[in-house]
Amino acid sequence: MYYPRRAFLRKSGLLALNTIAATALTPALSARIKDAGFQGQDPVTVASDEALWEPIQQAYRQSGDFINLENGYYSPAPLPVLAAQAGYIQGINETPSYYMRRQQEKDREAIKAKLASLAGCASNELVITRNTTESLDTIISGIDLQAGDEAIMTDQDYGSMLAAFAQQAKRYGTVNKIINLPLLPENDASVVSLFEQAITERTKVMLVTHMINLTGQILPVRAICDMARQKGVEVIVDAAHSFAHIDFHIKDLHCDYLGTSLHKWLCAPLGSGMMYIHPEKIPKVWPLFGDQDYEAHDIRKFEHIGTHPVTTVKAIGDAIDFHQEIGSAYKEARLRYMKNYWVNAIKDLPKVRINTPMKDHQSCGIANISLEGYSPKELADALFDRYRIFTVAIDHQAVKGVRITPHLYTRKADLDLLIKAVKDLA
Ligand SMILES: Cc1ncc(COP(=O)(O)O)c(C=O)c1O
Repeated sequence: MYYPRRAFLRKSGLLALNTIAATALTPALSARIKDAGFQGQDPVTVASDEALWEPIQQAYRQSGDFINLENGYYSPAPLPVLAAQAGYIQGINETPSYYMRRQQEKDREAIKAKLASLAGCASNELVITRNTTESLDTIISGIDLQAGDEAIMTDQDYGSMLAAFAQQAKRYGTVNKIINLPLLPENDASVVSLFEQAITERTKVMLVTHMINLTGQILPVRAICDMARQKGVEVIVDAAHSFAHIDFHIKDLHCDYLGTSLHKWLCAPLGSGMMYIHPEKIPKVWPLFGDQDYEAHDIRKFEHIGTHPVTTVKAIGDAIDFHQEIGSAYKEARLRYMKNYWVNAIKDLPKVRINTPMKDHQSCGIANISLEGYSPKELADALFDRYRIFTVAIDHQAVKGVRITPHLYTRKADLDLLIKAVKDLA
C-alpha cells in the first residue's frame, strides 16, 4: 500500500483561518513527525522504536490526572485535527447559509472520496454517518426481511446491533440465531464452521464483528463472507474497532455491508462514522429517513438526514491526513507491539488470565485480562484508585475481565506502570 507524505498543517481553502494556532502543532513538532521517516522501513521494526513515536505521542494532548488505557470507547483527536475543526467552526460560522447552500455538498463529496480511498471502496458506495450504531442500524432496519427469515449473530456482538435485530424480530417476526463464540478459538476454520453450522434454508443475513469489543479478538471475516456468499447469505460487518486500527480494505473482506465509527481508531471528531453498502445491494436497502431526490441505486438516498454538524464532516479529512502520514501498516504494528509488550510481561503470573487470543492475526491493540480474586469492577477500580490507570470492567456472560486499550499517544512508561500494577495486585 502507498502512503503519501503530507504536511499536517494544511490550509483549508475558502475557510482557512489563522486564529487557531494555539491548538495547532508547532511547526517544529510538525516537522519532527514528518521526518520520523517510517516510510520504506519494516513496520514491525519501527513499532518498538520509542524515539520514532515520541513526536506522534506529542501530537495528542491528554489530561495528566490519569493514564487513559480505555481508548476503545473513542479516541481523542490529535492536535492538528482539533485545530482544523476549530477553523472550520469559525469559518463556516462566518459564511453560514452561504456555506450550506453553495459549498457543503462539494466538501462532503471531497471527504467521501478521500475516505473511500483510505477504506478501499468507491465513494458512491459509502455514506458519512454519526457512528457505527447509525450505520449498522440503518442497514439492519433497512433490509427487507419477512416473518420467519433468519439472521445469525453471536453472543459477543455489540449490544446495540443485537437490540436492532431483536426489534426487527418483535416487529416483523424474523428469527435471530445467536451463536456462542469461543474466547480463544483453536483456529479460523473453527470460527467459520460455527457460522456455517447455524445456516438454514431460511437464513438471509449474518452479522459479523471484525474485532470483538469485549476482548479485541479479530474474526476471520473474509473466510466467513466467502462461505456465506456460497450459501446465498448476506454479511453485515461491524468494523467499529477494526477500521483504521488494522490495515485492511473493505473490498478485501468480500462483505455486503459494513459500518464503522471514525471517532474510534481514525481519531476523527466525536460523532463521525461511515456506512458502506456493496453497489449491488444499495437498491434493496430502505433509508431510515425517506428520500425522493435520488434513485434507489444511489447511495445518496441515505444522506437525507437534515441539518447536521458539517464541521465534523470536514475534519474527517484532516484525521485521514494524520492517519496517512503515519501509515496504516505502521499504526497497526505499533498498536500490536504495545499490546504484546504489556501482555507478555504479565501473562505467566499465576493469577493472571489473558482472555484475548494472541496470534498476530487474532488480535491487535486491545486485550482483556482477569485476575483471580478480583471481579472486573474490583480490578478496574484497583487500577484506577491505586495507580491512576483508567480501564473498563467487562462483566459479560462471555467474559469477565478488564479491557486494556492503549493508543498511539500511550508511552512505554504508562505500560510499565500497568505491568507493575498487575504484578503488585497479583
Ligand atoms: C463492536 C462495536 N460495535 C459498535 C459500537 C458502537 O459504536 P458507536 O457508539 O460509535 O456507534 C461499538 C462501540 O464501542 C463497538 O465496540
